[in-house]
Amino acid sequence: MKPSKQLLNDILEEVRPLIGQGKVADYIPALAQVPANRLGIAVCYNDGEIIQAGDSEEGFSIQSISKVLSLTLAMTLYEADEIWSRVGKEPSGHAFNSMIQLELEQGIPRNPFINAGALVVSDLLHSRLSAPQYRMLELVRSLACNPDVAYDKDVAASEMQHSDRNAAIAYLMRAFGNFNNDVVPVLGNYFGYCALKMSCVDLARTFSYLANKGMPLGTDTPLISPTQSKQINALLATCGLYDGAGEFAYRVGMPGKSGVGGGIVAIVPGEMSIAVWSPELDASGNSVAGTAALALLAERIGRSIF
Ligand code: DON
Repeated sequence: MKPSKQLLNDILEEVRPLIGQGKVADYIPALAQVPANRLGIAVCYNDGEIIQAGDSEEGFSIQSISKVLSLTLAMTLYEADEIWSRVGKEPSGHAFNSMIQLELEQGIPRNPFINAGALVVSDLLHSRLSAPQYRMLELVRSLACNPDVAYDKDVAASEMQHSDRNAAIAYLMRAFGNFNNDVVPVLGNYFGYCALKMSCVDLARTFSYLANKGMPLGTDTPLISPTQSKQINALLATCGLYDGAGEFAYRVGMPGKSGVGGGIVAIVPGEMSIAVWSPELDASGNSVAGTAALALLAERIGRSIF
């Protein structure tokens, strides 16, 4: 069932009282300045129709949602074995920026959506592209059908200034032989991807390819194959919300990816891609009101992959 604008408005009003129960990310100081009361949702149906409500056109920092785009780009550049020999496909059960498993598991990150895994993927992109940030921007602008998508340089700089943990993760992987380039430029690219500023409408359009077997909106050229699209959705369902992935599967029942900017993208394969935004996060780093809105939407339109 296609959700109506009225339904999306009703859902936002139902979850709005949750604002105040989470915490806006402040470990990246530039993110702490985002107003906590923002709330938006956009649905992109596979026929291209966009249904939206609330602050759905306001740009925000997509943060870890970018990890799906980096993985997608890497999958267009590398054979599967070249990627999956360096990063796993299992949920971590730990915080997105934890280092505990990395030491125990010889520098191989559990999956591409925790910071360590995304840093390995960024290292792969750095090895094969002469201008990875430029290529990423080009890809995102075309997927979002919006030539104005850009990096928020203040957010990227803020993250670089507070990069000790991500740098430590990258150096640890380098010590294990699982990081081939100089750490600092790869970190710079990774922070750039995370600092992409996009709206719910941009994100819903961008991730349409995962609802449509790898085919981006408005094209007849596949970005990735139907099998690769299925594989990414499987990884999103098991690893996309970190140590909150089980709870998200239970409540929402869709492949999804969160970011500490408060955005979440969710996919109904074969039908629609959805983006929500509310900056306050739970203890796992996932948007409180955003998750609740997706849970209500899934229930009201009767969709779940389970
Ligand atoms: O590297 C970081 O910590 C951030 N740029 C991204 C973390 C993030 O979004 C985790 N998501 N819930």
